[in-house]
Amino acid sequence: MKSYEEEVKNFSWEISKKELGYKDGDIINIGWYCSDRICEMGKANKIAFIWESFKGEEKRYTYNDLRVLTNTIANYLKNLGIKPGERVCLFMDKIPELYFGLIGILKMGAIAQPLFSAFGSDSLLTRLEDAQTSAIITQKKHLPKVRNILDKLPYMNYIIVVDDDGAKPLREKEYAFNLEKEERIEKFDIYPSTAETPSILHYTSGTTGKPKGAQHVHYSLISQYITAKYVLDLQDDDIYWCTADPGWVTGTSYGIIGPWSNGVTQCVTEAGFTAENWYRFIEKHKITVWYSAPTAIRALMREGNEIVKKFDLSSLRHLASVGEPLNAEAVLWSQEVFGKMFHDTFWQTETGCIVISNYPGMKIKPGSMGKPFPGIEATVVDLKTFVPLERTGVVGMIAIKPGWPSMFRTYWKNEETYKGKFKNGWYLCGDRASIDDEGYFWFVGRDDDVINAGGHLVGPFEIESALIEHPAVAESAAVGKPDPINMEVVKAFITLKKGYEPSKELELNIMNFIRKKLSPLAMPQEIEFVESLPKTRSGKIMRRVLRAKEWGEDIGDTSTLENDM
Ligand code: WT7
Repeated sequence: MKSYEEEVKNFSWEISKKELGYKDGDIINIGWYCSDRICEMGKANKIAFIWESFKGEEKRYTYNDLRVLTNTIANYLKNLGIKPGERVCLFMDKIPELYFGLIGILKMGAIAQPLFSAFGSDSLLTRLEDAQTSAIITQKKHLPKVRNILDKLPYMNYIIVVDDDGAKPLREKEYAFNLEKEERIEKFDIYPSTAETPSILHYTSGTTGKPKGAQHVHYSLISQYITAKYVLDLQDDDIYWCTADPGWVTGTSYGIIGPWSNGVTQCVTEAGFTAENWYRFIEKHKITVWYSAPTAIRALMREGNEIVKKFDLSSLRHLASVGEPLNAEAVLWSQEVFGKMFHDTFWQTETGCIVISNYPGMKIKPGSMGKPFPGIEATVVDLKTFVPLERTGVVGMIAIKPGWPSMFRTYWKNEETYKGKFKNGWYLCGDRASIDDEGYFWFVGRDDDVINAGGHLVGPFEIESALIEHPAVAESAAVGKPDPINMEVVKAFITLKKGYEPSKELELNIMNFIRKKLSPLAMPQEIEFVESLPKTRSGKIMRRVLRAKEWGEDIGDTSTLENDM
């Protein structure tokens, strides 16, 4: 991006369409754009994907491999009998089949439903039930979690296991699929999807009710391609690393679609986080563009500056971050140790692409999320009237003018909640922020009770529903509490049933119960046993009162809160 101001003046989504060679009304299939098209552009032998296993074993795939292997998956799914429009869940660790699987599903016209592999059976069930998912691609290690709930999933017909070794017989509806042994499909008739054909269904948590499926379409490519190019500054010779898991939207929009539609080489490691692992990974692969998250950056910060010096990280050219507030200290620290500032970017599962951010070449104000992407009209609106705030520095709700290409098209079978997200002609993000006199956005906090645990949203309702299934729990409330690394972690307030006494053992038992049922992210890091929970006159638990106490904030006038509820 030359200059932000210039770009804003001259920008239109047509630029993206032109670069992609797409005209309105054409066929548009993200799968084709991410593989076949790049090959047609003469990059068939360029490396698309460098993958490292836990053990450090490395695999490399060219764009031609990407094209053929995703054809192979698409062909397999089609031959199994899966029809376009059906939901196919991806439930795997960060292995190649996860990345190729997403492209394969899109190529044969089904809807990809990626779910985080650390989810327990209950988290899985809620999302598969809602989407009436008919197939799931998974690994042997996650198979028991699927088997546990299969009798509650009448629509589930195909459980595809990518690493079955034949040691134990598979059951009815279970299929062994081995990408390396399968016949390579050179030519596949890609499904002729058009702009509004559904592509990906990403589940996201809200305050009330079950998680909602944000429904995306193939046209999302128009914004994902160009934001990856402009904001992440992807260029032909880059080696890119996005640390997000494709179970979440960052891992698909910018961990699959963004880099591959730009024909860039990307690296992925299956190994978990340690400072040593990450710095070694950057050094080994000479990563140039690194897209990560505040929790990881703070965790690196905690490991100190000495360890950074042990590695040659001079390849790094551009750093960006997303998912939660990136504090000014973290930005300044990255300048100190990497000689580069992390560029904060803001967006959501629903927006499908980066909507507000710090651009390469733009002055960074540490602690600010930056400015709207050219082509995106963003503002902050009054919390009650939804009218854009005239004065700078006043806190309102972040709002975006509908119409950008990757906007979600609905919540799966929940049009009413979808419509509720639009007020006065604006899409409401549900986050509070202010804008300064230079147009920079400053994040304040969420406007609901959703907990952002280390960059992952967890819904209090889902946690509370799971908690009351524990035999000792009478009532519960889940709120976020401050944490130095994760910014926010889950804390649960619990009243016990008669006959149960608070104890450390019970606390651990309940924590474990949630970890297994839902996920490690949803597991409360602390449980406070209380005699009673604060409630409104109508009997609703006032999470906000509990949350405010944790953050040392003024609870405010609770009588209005009671009336509100
Ligand atoms: C919510 C969306 C799409 C990225 C992954 C998260 C919070 C996101 C920032 C940021 C402060 C941020 C917001 C937002 N968030 N980016 N740069 N600064 N908060 O997607 O799971 O849909 O979460 O994450 O609260 O609404 P998501």
